[in-house]
Amino acid sequence: MKAVSPYLGKAGSGKPQAVSWVDHADPVPGAGEVLIEVRAAALNRGDLLQMRGLYPPPAGASPVPGLEACGVITAIGNATDPTPDAVSEAEAGDSEFKVGDEVVALLAGGGQAERVAVHSGQLLKKPESLTWIEAGGLAEVALTSWTNLVHEGSLVAGQTVLITAAASGVGSYCVRLAKELGANVVVAGRKLQRLEPLRDFGAEGVVQLGEGLAKDVRELCPNGVDLVLDLVGGHGVASLLAALKDRGRLVLLGLMGGTVAEIPLSDVLRRRLEIRGSVLRARSVEEKAGLIRSFESFAASRWESGCLTPLIDRSLPFEQVSEAYQALATEEVFGKIVLTHSLGRCE
Ligand SMILES: NC(=O)c1ccc[n+]([C@@H]2O[C@H](COP(=O)([O-])OP(=O)(O)OC[C@H]3O[C@@H](n4cnc5c(N)ncnc54)[C@H](OP(=O)(O)O)[C@@H]3O)[C@@H](O)[C@H]2O)c1
Repeated sequence: MKAVSPYLGKAGSGKPQAVSWVDHADPVPGAGEVLIEVRAAALNRGDLLQMRGLYPPPAGASPVPGLEACGVITAIGNATDPTPDAVSEAEAGDSEFKVGDEVVALLAGGGQAERVAVHSGQLLKKPESLTWIEAGGLAEVALTSWTNLVHEGSLVAGQTVLITAAASGVGSYCVRLAKELGANVVVAGRKLQRLEPLRDFGAEGVVQLGEGLAKDVRELCPNGVDLVLDLVGGHGVASLLAALKDRGRLVLLGLMGGTVAEIPLSDVLRRRLEIRGSVLRARSVEEKAGLIRSFESFAASRWESGCLTPLIDRSLPFEQVSEAYQALATEEVFGKIVLTHSLGRCE
């Protein structure tokens, strides 16, 4: 099959223009897994970091990039003999999925390819109201937003959440989901004009990252916010903590601004603040399956309205993957870049 080239070089030396569409061994679905013929797959910041040699795939995951994809199940892995010959077209054990089903997959890697093997616990049924392109950019952003707002962040209706790097793929989905959860949303980023369109998604406040952030947030919410979802990290964490209410919570899920921060521990202690880190990719199949089921039951009655549709910046054919990665690296992207197959698979 064809796949986006895995980058296996030295840390920091990968270049987006070096990414290409190359021959790669076919994945073989093992016990509990299905084989998917990919229709569309989105890019994430994690793919760019992986391609630069800075974010290796977890043990056992495909070296091919791609944390989310959608497509059609073409085979079910055999429980006892996970070889191509043993792949059956029967229903998989106790899985609800069968050959021909249209699905969305949350992956630890491998999605940017013609085919990908994935455990059935990491699948969602493709929502009928989403196009293939939208479905290709759904799983990673939706499940990252869901677990961090609801499970790690304990956000409930009526509370206020501050989301950093809000114009990113994950950030923009967090905004939509937080509104659906009944929260008030303040968005932060480096450039205010990139955040303004998020008001159309219901963001009540727009603030700039930097030293003035806490003051700007407190002009909007004098007591501070209940929750910060921080996709940036680095030294900006101190001003995010200052924007929290007493007993507020900060969930850290990205390090684009740096891996080191100096924070006032006396403030954390005195105001009983909570700081939590969170990653999705390395979680167990069982944990991902639980997340997917809880998200699906929340989302089931909401797909039709479009409120949980991911924001798509652009779609490109897989053959133009180098262009797609170069666009992602410019940091001017608003929402998701989705790769699609050109042979009419996406119609
Ligand atoms: N923990 C998890 O499980 C998990 C899962 C998925 C993603 N993530 C993290 O979520 C973040 C967003 O990922 P994505 O794929 O949605 O990204 P993306 O769509 O590529 O967007 C990245 C955006 O972040 C902002 N940004 C980039 N560098 C920055 C910096 N140094 N300081 C501040 N802002 C910066 C830029 O927006 P502005 O120019 O508007 O500031 C940029 O457009 C990443 O940190 C990623 O690692 C975490």
